[in-house]
Amino acid sequence: MDISLAGKVAIVTGAGPNIGSGIALALAKYGAKVACNDVDAEAARTAVRRIERNGGTAIAIPGDVTDSERVAGYVREVVETFGRVDILVNNAALLGGRGVLDESVDFFRRAVEVAALGNFLNTRCVGRYMAEHGIRGSIVAVSSSNGWSGSAGVIAYAFHKGGVNNFVRAAAMDLAPYGIRVNSFTPTAPTPDNPELIAAQGPGGVLDRPPSLRHGIGSEDGTEPWRRPARWTGERPPLVPMGTTGTPTDIGHCVAWLCSDYARLITGCDFVVDGGARAKNFAYLPAAPGELAGPLPLIPIDGTGELDGATATERG
Ligand SMILES: NC(=O)c1ccc[n+]([C@@H]2O[C@H](COP(=O)([O-])OP(=O)(O)OC[C@H]3O[C@@H](n4cnc5c(N)ncnc54)[C@H](O)[C@@H]3O)[C@@H](O)[C@H]2O)c1
Repeated sequence: MDISLAGKVAIVTGAGPNIGSGIALALAKYGAKVACNDVDAEAARTAVRRIERNGGTAIAIPGDVTDSERVAGYVREVVETFGRVDILVNNAALLGGRGVLDESVDFFRRAVEVAALGNFLNTRCVGRYMAEHGIRGSIVAVSSSNGWSGSAGVIAYAFHKGGVNNFVRAAAMDLAPYGIRVNSFTPTAPTPDNPELIAAQGPGGVLDRPPSLRHGIGSEDGTEPWRRPARWTGERPPLVPMGTTGTPTDIGHCVAWLCSDYARLITGCDFVVDGGARAKNFAYLPAAPGELAGPLPLIPIDGTGELDGATATERG
């Protein structure tokens, strides 16, 4: 029984080089034609080139997911080009930010807007198209572990990812009568595995990002004595039960299956592929990396570059 998305057409928003591109490539490798959106037009085109290098079919549909006219415009372009839309992945988001003591109104407002309007406008437009055309499609929102539990230093992100989680359940109810499914996927700090991204910024995940992109509480340099760090900054303890939270490729395999016909009755759910990171009880300390069997080897999707995600460890 092979999972196939042949004949299906997908839209992926925010198809930048990390998770969005990984999901878009996976959907293409499983057989879907894919339209890659991003507010950064070059990022959308780069995702398309990655899919084409891997033998898939894709178009770029640049645009801001908070602009209702542009959303309607690119959904129309997809239908004109590929004839239909079966899959929508609401992936675009603003990451980073600061804690509740320090966040700016402008960043908070924009981050919430991208998440709220991005999910709402795309789901409304594509959901209406599917309902009107009798397409029993699949809509996937991208959440975060920050939407399910509290981290310091990401107050806007925590707020809007929590909102995404209940948006999914409510939209699933709205669209269930039409046979349209709405679910979410929750990444937990996956380790990048897009060869182009690794070449550009090195092999690390969010923990290796510059401090300005890494979330934070406190002043620019965090030097006030009363400040607390937003995250553990020393040598990383083994926090992930299976030793790795995985890669965008792991996410892509799961999202592709979730958008396949095998998942026909799954709606209003959240999916996690993170080596047990989110499931872990606060009092459970996972075994040290050297004591773990480790997961099965990663099944690669990008055949055009080096992929070492299977050995990436403890990014949780
Ligand atoms: N990277 C992680 O560790 C992590 C962890 C949990 C959840 N997530 C979620 O996964 C998704 C992708 O994350 P990523 O790490 O690839 O982030 P990223 O910042 O690399 O990609 C997000 C993309 O969204 C685009 N975007 C932003 N605003 C937009 C707008 N208004 N319209 C269209 N596109 C817009 C950006 O240009 C960017 O390319 C996000 O929803 C993020 O919250 C990421």
